[in-house]
Amino acid sequence: MPLKSHGLTQARGYVKVCCLVGGCMCTLSDCVRVCVRTVSPLTGTVLLVFAKEDSQNNGFCWACEKANFRCNVARTPEAALECFKEKHHDLVIIDHRHSRYFDAESLCREVLLIHFYLNGFVDLFGVCCCRPDREEASVMPLIKSGFNRRYVENANMMACYNELLQLERGEVLAQFKLRACNAIFTALEQSQEAIEITNEDQVIQVGFNYSVVVEFVLMFPGSSQRRHSSMARIHSMTIEAPITKVINIINAAQESSPMPVAEALDRVLEILRTTELYSPQLGTKEEDPHTNDLVGGLMTDGLRRLSGNEYIFAAKQPHLPSHLAMPLSLNDIPPHVAQTMENEDSWDFDIFNLETACLKRPLTYLGLKIFSRFGVCEFLSCPEATLRSWLQGIEANYHSTNSYHNSSHAADVLHATAYFLCKERVKQSLEQIDEVAALIAATVHDVDHPGRTNSFLCNAGSELAILYNDTAVLESHHAALAFQITTRDDKCNIFRNMERNEYRTLRQAIIDMVLATEMTKHFEHVNKFVNSINKPLAGIGDEESVKGILTSPDNRILVKRMLIKCADISNPCRPLELCIEWAGRISEEYFAQTDEEKRQSLPVVMPVFDRNTCSIPKSQISFIDYFITDMFDAWDAFADLPNLMQHLDNNFKYWKGLDERKLHSLRPPPE
Ligand SMILES: *[C@@H]1O[C@H](CO)[C@@H](O)[C@H](O)[C@H]1NC(C)=O
Ligand SMILES: *[C@@H]1O[C@H](CO)[C@@H](O)[C@H](O)[C@H]1NC(C)=O
Ligand SMILES: *[C@@H]1O[C@H](CO)[C@@H](O)[C@H](O)[C@H]1NC(C)=O
Repeated sequence: MPLKSHGLTQARGYVKVCCLVGGCMCTLSDCVRVCVRTVSPLTGTVLLVFAKEDSQNNGFCWACEKANFRCNVARTPEAALECFKEKHHDLVIIDHRHSRYFDAESLCREVLLIHFYLNGFVDLFGVCCCRPDREEASVMPLIKSGFNRRYVENANMMACYNELLQLERGEVLAQFKLRACNAIFTALEQSQEAIEITNEDQVIQVGFNYSVVVEFVLMFPGSSQRRHSSMARIHSMTIEAPITKVINIINAAQESSPMPVAEALDRVLEILRTTELYSPQLGTKEEDPHTNDLVGGLMTDGLRRLSGNEYIFAAKQPHLPSHLAMPLSLNDIPPHVAQTMENEDSWDFDIFNLETACLKRPLTYLGLKIFSRFGVCEFLSCPEATLRSWLQGIEANYHSTNSYHNSSHAADVLHATAYFLCKERVKQSLEQIDEVAALIAATVHDVDHPGRTNSFLCNAGSELAILYNDTAVLESHHAALAFQITTRDDKCNIFRNMERNEYRTLRQAIIDMVLATEMTKHFEHVNKFVNSINKPLAGIGDEESVKGILTSPDNRILVKRMLIKCADISNPCRPLELCIEWAGRISEEYFAQTDEEKRQSLPVVMPVFDRNTCSIPKSQISFIDYFITDMFDAWDAFADLPNLMQHLDNNFKYWKGLDERKLHSLRPPPE
């Protein structure tokens, strides 16, 4: 059958990629339809490059016919390349017996190059055909030019036929397998919704019958909680989760599939069964200790880190919230404080001026100003006095002794959140209830943060880690405590006058956003955003469809999560001086954790954050490389934030500059 590399068509609002012949579509990004071509025996295409017809040439022609391979013969390198570009053969056999006609080795290299352009990877199978007197010569030059195999001249038809059969059963099959695998993996990685596995005509192909077009939704709520270990259990489940359906369908398909496909599907299943569909795996070549530590420190929780239970009972008491601090009277914002907040709607707003001016209550003051700008009290039907008490109550539960996670950070995140909410795209997407949820979530998102990471709390067997089963410990605590503080006292219950259903919606949204700040889910949130929002938006122009994408309930959730995530770690996108100050604070907090881990003989979660040895520039560079760049690229593509990207660029260069001078500090030494 004629085999093309891939075809791209639009179907049902998503891009459909048919990948043919061993399914190579690895460079296409929006694929949701994977077409796995069966490798039924005896279907392949062969290109014979022989300058002259002779018995060897005829031997292979006959063998191809017998083996049911489609075969083309080219007499010159030019004709060979033309033909290859068009037909894209699986197997290329080049006559290497006579150098006077053409240079077989350079032809091989050119074929490979074309193959590479077409497919993005090099795995073509080339054979060269040699004279018997060359048998003793080294194969090295041949291998270097890209031949995989040397066939010593033998025109006997059965010898040619046997050679073809062996090739097809061995290498060609393996190649198909690899490509099919690649195709499926690519689709899995890159599509956020439906994946269909079909044959190349979207129908069942002769030789094997998937009997199904596998359509499955990869992102189903709650998938990460579901871990199935035994097939028996899956089959016995009566209420099927999407993942169960998917696994059953693939299992069924495997039974009627040829080996390579079945094996490829095995690997697919293996991946689907893990919960970490979105986290890139740090390979062994990722040796940068800063990245490893940040990933280890921020992206793992106790479940994956805890090697034994020796620390479980060495419990460190978490700082439990004191009862609501006495609300100070706060009827007017003092003029000198108001002055520091004049440009709070600008990205370059200097929150440290406010921090200095307001006696450690930046969150309350900035909160009052921003909440009133967004009409939050009106929306909640709550008196302003209640909002004041609420803000003070929340702020009082931030630890001012933390060098980073104190209420200044919360105020900073609130500021970034408000800034993002004013972006045109964001406004088009969100409703007022979303805005209110975002502002509240930002305000409470780190309340009662102990200045230690989740991994630390799990290692230390803290009460919070025990309460939350080592899972999203801090984020769960922030969300839960925020509602406890709010609802335990009418004086500060900003939700008191809300209608029940609206309250439930708002509460759900706030919890979702606070939990989204957990870094173990970083790549999941970013990928979902890119796949469900950036990519579809890039593909369409008409206002109606744009609106549809922006305002669908699922997408609004993704926008809100991305918004608070970006606000939460926007420090590297702030003006340089602010960025440096925040970098100093977070490093100090991590150093303090390392100090304590050493003191208590706990595992050191982030060894690079040792105050004696740490290079702050390096840690910032790694953080930006690993977490920030992609996320803000995506957020900028959506919300249009050139000023942030400019700062990010400047700041990155600043850290690079320090690092190149081998400096470990926040700033260069004074001249
Ligand atoms: C493949 O399965 C489909 C759906 O079960 C069926 O309609 C079709 O006839 C089958 N084709 C072959 C060749 O068995
Ligand atoms: C936050 O911590 C810094 C030290 O890193 C401190 O200067 C600042 O006053 C603290 N802010 C609040 C509101 O406690
Ligand atoms: C922790 O695990 C226990 C036992 O499985 C369960 O009963 C409890 O609800 C879990 N708690 C949380 C907060 O997930």
